[in-house]
Amino acid sequence: MADTAIINEVGLRDGLQNQPVTVDTNTKARLARLLVDAGMRYLEPVSFVSPKAIPQMADAAALTPLLPQGEHLHYTALVPNLKGYQLAREAGYPTVALVLSTTDSFNERNLRMSLEQAAQSCETIIQAAREDGIATRTYISGAFACPYDGPVPESLPRQLAERMFTAGSDEVAIADTIGAGNPQQMKAIMAPLIRDIGAERFYVHLHDTRGLAAAMAWEAADLGVRKFDASVGGLGGCPFAPGATGNMATEDLVYLLESCGLNTGINIEGLREAVALAAEATQRPLGGRILDWMASQEKQGKTPCLW
Ligand code: COA
Ligand code: ZN
Repeated sequence: MADTAIINEVGLRDGLQNQPVTVDTNTKARLARLLVDAGMRYLEPVSFVSPKAIPQMADAAALTPLLPQGEHLHYTALVPNLKGYQLAREAGYPTVALVLSTTDSFNERNLRMSLEQAAQSCETIIQAAREDGIATRTYISGAFACPYDGPVPESLPRQLAERMFTAGSDEVAIADTIGAGNPQQMKAIMAPLIRDIGAERFYVHLHDTRGLAAAMAWEAADLGVRKFDASVGGLGGCPFAPGATGNMATEDLVYLLESCGLNTGINIEGLREAVALAAEATQRPLGGRILDWMASQEKQGKTPCLW
């Protein structure tokens, strides 16, 4: 069997939360359908956050029943606090994503908690989720650098990841929220974690702010990571992380992994419609590099031959 990789589509959440326009619920549901039709099986479509803080996510509960259904589909909801966790549980999410940033400044801006308060809040939510039979993935946000305080010591993401595993988190995501890391740092952080804990419990979440997301994704894959977040068309940013641009584009990540022999089950051709809808809905140009190349081939009358 070919080596496989999981791509978790976060465009509907991480992507849309940072747009000046609020995309309507039915359009979000259509986008989810196009993504699923392209082979996406893991999606984070919503967060249960304060609608005052993030109005773009105010329809989380309304969107949930409109999402494509099927046993092969795995949905996650991001929750910033216990209230968000309770709302996600009521909405029926089997997995929740928790957020723990590496500095006081980032946690204060994002969650209105200190680092220690945020860590304790995650521990409380993880405990509740375990009792409720809900899986948890804790994001170590700003793992490479903080948008407010700059570079973060390499030992810190490890320390926070270990603390979250000890609390019972099923998975941990190492998140370069502002796209400030490089492949060497990826190796320095991930290699010991993988050695001691195992690659299967880690996600990697990358923003392509400075163009190194693909290099970092490959470094992680080479180390054994098989779970990645990505955002259709490269949509995204973080409202509390100034300067952060979108996630690594899903289509570029599919191309990277598939061309290196990892099976993602996702069809790039199928993603084109999803990118087009996301671009139309957000009124901005979107799309990874591979789509530009495909379009340029077609302009020359050629059928793009990807593999
Ligand atoms: N979902 C919906 N509403 C929430 C909520 C949640 N998870 N948590 C708090 N609220 C509501 C409260 O009910 C309260 O509403 P009210 O003003 O109508 O009474 C209001 O938000 C303020 O509550 P409080 O507990 O004082 O929260 P806060 O003002 O300290 O805000 C957060 C903290 C975390 C709720 C808020 O900043 C937030 O949602 N941030 C979003 C973080 C995010 O999504 N970041 C990007 C992804 S990492
Ligand atoms: Zn992000």
